Amino acid sequence: MSDGHLQIVVCGAGPASDVARLIVVAREASWTMAVTATASAANFIDIPAIERLTGNPVRTSYQTVGRGRRVPTWVDALIIAPATYNTVNKIALGIADSYPLTSIAELIGRNVPTVVVPFVNAALAARAPFQHAVATLRQEGVRVLLGPDDGWEPHPPGGGAERQAVFPWATAFRTAAQTAHRSVDQ
Ligand SMILES: Cc1cc2nc3c(=O)[nH]c(=O)nc-3n(C[C@H](O)[C@H](O)[C@H](O)COP(=O)(O)O)c2cc1C
Repeated sequence: MSDGHLQIVVCGAGPASDVARLIVVAREASWTMAVTATASAANFIDIPAIERLTGNPVRTSYQTVGRGRRVPTWVDALIIAPATYNTVNKIALGIADSYPLTSIAELIGRNVPTVVVPFVNAALAARAPFQHAVATLRQEGVRVLLGPDDGWEPHPPGGGAERQAVFPWATAFRTAAQTAHRSVDQ
């Protein structure tokens, strides 16, 4: 019996290649999970390895790319990690021009507890559109792990590799699990 089902969306940034760390943490807590990858993220991840770990197909579009069981129709929490500058801005604006963005838009609209963990450098994080996006998402009730209170800061340009090693996968899961509740995913 699963304690919850986690929907994970990975975007095209370095930590995407470490998403197995989140899968392992969630599995240890007796959660099931499925991974959706943006088109850019597909270049960073090992899709067959993730499918073996989760037992579910990785989705990048409305069609599934791998083999596996049908993704469960229930979602208790959504984690978007690593969240790129591009995707954070798009989610906040409500843009839904891809399967991952449409899925995120719907899940947030259904009040599924959502945790966003951006992976951006300080130059991108300083841009007004990004700062507005983070504020907008927080106003909507989305938990954006970023800033001194969350112990997770943008990295200096060129400093992504070091920061990738300490990406807060376990904190993301703990935060999501604390507020999880069950909602239907289509
Ligand atoms: C090797 C590589 C590393 C990247 N790292 C980052 C990153 O750390 N943060 C970020 O916001 N974008 C990063 N990008 C740029 C994004 O992949 C790009 O903006 C892409 O359009 C994001 O698409 P997505 O948001 O749909 O995943 C990187 C791109 C490449 C090729």
